[in-house]
Amino acid sequence: MFKLPGLIDPHVHVREPGQIHKEDWDSATQAALAGGVTMILAMPNTKPPIFDASTLDLALDSAKRKARCDYAQFLGAGPDNADAVAALAPKAAGLKMYLDSTFGELRLNDMTLWMPHFQKFPKDYPIVLHSESRTMAAGILFATLYDRPVHIAHVSLKEEILLIKAAKERGIKVTCEVCPHHLYLTTPSPLHPSPSGRGDGGEGRLEVRPRLATQQDVDALWENLDVIDCFATDHAPHTLAEKDSENPPPGFPGLETLLPLLLTAVDSGRLTLDDLIQKSVINPRKIFRLPEQPETWVEVDETAEYEIKAEHQFTHCGWTPFEGWKVKGKVRKVVLRGRVAFEDGKVLAERGYGRNVRS
Ligand code: DOR
Ligand code: ZN
Repeated sequence: MFKLPGLIDPHVHVREPGQIHKEDWDSATQAALAGGVTMILAMPNTKPPIFDASTLDLALDSAKRKARCDYAQFLGAGPDNADAVAALAPKAAGLKMYLDSTFGELRLNDMTLWMPHFQKFPKDYPIVLHSESRTMAAGILFATLYDRPVHIAHVSLKEEILLIKAAKERGIKVTCEVCPHHLYLTTPSPLHPSPSGRGDGGEGRLEVRPRLATQQDVDALWENLDVIDCFATDHAPHTLAEKDSENPPPGFPGLETLLPLLLTAVDSGRLTLDDLIQKSVINPRKIFRLPEQPETWVEVDETAEYEIKAEHQFTHCGWTPFEGWKVKGKVRKVVLRGRVAFEDGKVLAERGYGRNVRS
């Protein structure tokens, strides 16, 4: 048994307001605690999206009533809200800009729509980019032109991690995160069926943005772990019925599988425990300027081996792309600000115990 600091997940889709049949502030934060995550940063592509003072209040009201772990809420960049979101920056996790195709309405195609956000959003609060491939190169150019930090969400490709490496070597203020599914799963092909596609459901279950990539991309991420600042889940729950439908929405749940998968990598020597702590606690805290959580830790049984099963999860969505995977390392207990919040499979923190770390 050993102790870790509470993990920070900088990329979670809570789905409230608007889609609480997928997840809400209660179930998402239960899933977080079960996964050893004591602070989440919530994405703004809800229904309605979080893009001004009243929608921010809507999300924060629900969070205040229901969250069981600590949190902050991102604002979404829209075509004409640069002044509004800049003024709200101190109350939010940061600004999320969707520059590529995604789930929901927030998307900024035209680069002229990026400019006011880069001009106006305060430099001491982070801008997070959903930007893939060449769009990422454009995002990094913007960081240079406007001389401000950007954080690249869910890096998945070899060309992306190599570009970020080169940008960092030039002193450009860019940080990035990677998700476990992009470290562990590859795109399905007849020759290389994805482990998550073993006949356990339709192709819709493999839909995610960024898409799963090739083994070469996965290898490049592992080889360049030192370029990666954070681990993030991109926890994006959709129900099984939705995933198996004609028009499957992209996204995987991830809060409850993050730490077991990382601990399994530690066990097999692919990752050091120091790196795990650096990328899931210390770096996200620094990049997003988050407060320390006093008297907060996770007790882990590093010898426990078990199979990942959706039926044991707290997320509402009812499935996981890692169903049946054997992992080593189990969360036994989570203490959050001096109170036992999770122990032996039970969430003990009550609704409303979670604090908004930006209030
Ligand atoms: O797979 C994804 N799901 N990628 C995104 O960018 C959005 C997310 C969601 O909200 O479902
Ligand atoms: Zn996301």
